[in-house]
Amino acid sequence: MDVTSIRDGLVRRLWPSDTTGFRDHLLRLDIDSRHSRFGGAVSDEFLINYAERCFGIDDVIYGYVVDGRVRGAGELRGVGHKLPLGFGGAAEAAFSVENGWRRQGVGAELMGRIVRAARNRRADALYMSCLASNQAMLRLARKFSAQLRREPDEALAMLEPRGPTPASVFDEASEDSAGFATAMLDLQRRAFAMRPAAR
Ligand SMILES: CC(C)(COP(=O)(O)OP(=O)(O)OC[C@H]1O[C@@H](n2cnc3c(N)ncnc32)[C@H](O)[C@@H]1OP(=O)(O)O)[C@@H](O)C(=O)NCCC(=O)NCCS
Repeated sequence: MDVTSIRDGLVRRLWPSDTTGFRDHLLRLDIDSRHSRFGGAVSDEFLINYAERCFGIDDVIYGYVVDGRVRGAGELRGVGHKLPLGFGGAAEAAFSVENGWRRQGVGAELMGRIVRAARNRRADALYMSCLASNQAMLRLARKFSAQLRREPDEALAMLEPRGPTPASVFDEASEDSAGFATAMLDLQRRAFAMRPAAR
């Protein structure tokens, strides 16, 4: 997989320098999307605190970036154990794409990156939970052949990622280095935009 363009944006890994962009993406989610993403109503304050904690050493986040703005994100982190990612154990994933950028394959691209990252980190199982009524997420999970368990209010999707191969590790590393260069360019662009105009 190369750094993929979808319409005017590209999918790349997000780094700590993208914290503000990721936070602003979450803040732009409307009430329904926040409810679908977090399983309940969440305030701006919650999202600001959440974004601050999202770039830990074990967290992997991919973003869909359009004109320097994060419009979608896929997040991967270990769950239910204290093992660092890369030493087995389960992982969980979550996705968010802003209205206006949906139904163009962005969610599927993000999920492809997250499944590959889980695979390369030897996760035994990858879980995704959503509201039982969330057709978009259920469809996305089915697309990746996840097993689905449906309860009255909630649905749980589970994938058993295959182990890493030299190709899957190489693909991730080469794509992330290209993505890192783009992230630095975005950072530079933001820094220039913030500079006071020369007199
Ligand atoms: C779930 C979500 C990430 C999907 O993003 P997306 O960019 O629209 O996904 P894609 O365009 O890749 O579509 C994936 C599949 O879902 C289907 N789909 C998308 N929106 C749909 C909807 N509202 N109803 C039914 N199917 C839908 C697409 O048709 C596609 O299936 P197909 O390829 O078989 O046709 C997005 O809807 C979202 O952010 N929702 C709010 C947050 C959320 O629910 N997160 C999931 C819980 S963590």
